[in-house]
Amino acid sequence: MSLASYLHSILNFFFIFLSSWWTEVQMGPPDPILGVTEAFKRDTNPKKMNLGVGAYRDDQGKPFVLSCVRKAEAQIAAKKLDKEYLPIGGLAEFSKACSQLALGPDNEVLKSGRSITIQTISGTGSLRVGANFVSRFHNASRDVYLPKPSWGNHTPIFRDAGMQLKAYSYYDPKTCGFDFKGALHDISKIPEKSVIVLHACAHNPTGVDPRPEQWKEMAALIKKRNLLVFFDMAYQGFASGDIDRDAWAVRDFIEQGHNILLSQSFAKNMGLYGERVGGFTVVCKDVEEAKRVESQLKILIRPIYSNPPMNGARIASTILNTPELYKEWLVEVKDMADRIITMREMFVSNLKKEGSTHNWQHVTEQIGMFCFTGLKPEQVERLIKEFSIYMTKDGRISVAGVTSANVGYLAHAIHAVTK
Ligand code: LMR
Repeated sequence: MSLASYLHSILNFFFIFLSSWWTEVQMGPPDPILGVTEAFKRDTNPKKMNLGVGAYRDDQGKPFVLSCVRKAEAQIAAKKLDKEYLPIGGLAEFSKACSQLALGPDNEVLKSGRSITIQTISGTGSLRVGANFVSRFHNASRDVYLPKPSWGNHTPIFRDAGMQLKAYSYYDPKTCGFDFKGALHDISKIPEKSVIVLHACAHNPTGVDPRPEQWKEMAALIKKRNLLVFFDMAYQGFASGDIDRDAWAVRDFIEQGHNILLSQSFAKNMGLYGERVGGFTVVCKDVEEAKRVESQLKILIRPIYSNPPMNGARIASTILNTPELYKEWLVEVKDMADRIITMREMFVSNLKKEGSTHNWQHVTEQIGMFCFTGLKPEQVERLIKEFSIYMTKDGRISVAGVTSANVGYLAHAIHAVTK
């Protein structure tokens, strides 16, 4: 190398070292939910448990692919379909089936055509499209009220869309149950036309849902306050094992005259996590309004991701539109929900066996994938450090990660940090 080129490379090195476009970028914290999985993966303890992210495992602790999904995949593969772009709003037969699943096929809204449903990139993508839509077109208010607490991703989704985050009482730490009085009190004070987010079933992170008569009262009050309702339904079928029961609140709100926004996810109930399948629905005043809304949703989506991916939507659509697969799916969702309910019971009975005298009734009363244990951050810290049991800092455990083989170890550890 000549001296000149040597000097040149040294200068170059210093130039690169001293000048960077990104010196101002600060190190960010790991994601409160997905970051737990990263820490879990680094742990070498053979007894380690990942109760962080809400992802279903079978009783062997293995990720579970539904048999109806495997069959749908085989049917799709046999058709040798092309890979052309989907329309901006996604696969039409998927969107139709998705809305029918949520609202019920005989719903007046669907029959009259006064709603629009589009395919989205799972629940998060749906919420974000919805948040962007609200931010762009709901000029009456920038305020979005979330239940306290809510899913960790709700806040950044709405904040990044330019909305202002507010909260209403939801969970009562004293009872580990629903703070109905607090919720009604707070909702009655929400300024008119604000947006209110409701978890349709299996509230994440608490597993605490209002009872039907409580939903009814909330729906009436929300109507009186003239609030825009945004339902997040990520667990239809996963809470009770019954898709109609889990969609009850959504359908009842519509019946009571709420023109809702609705996000759906097929990550949990079809186990299509990484396929990213979801739907976004806007219930409108009439067909003409629905057409206008649809046109603007397309304009909003096109510069973000152009159009959604097709594989997962084809799978979900095949299941929803093929009677035998649909029947099989209903059984499989119920099996998953039932396994979780059984794990809740086994967890409590193992805690009792360990000698715990605390009241763990909330564990079996709460519903869905998550149990809000009531553990304090220091106790969570100990569970991670001493037992390699990983969960989110708020004490939420994904019951889907508990199995007959490790429930005893979990109860033992939790008793150790709570006695
Ligand atoms: C969870 O809350 O664990 C799930 O909804 C997965 C996620 O994306 O956070």
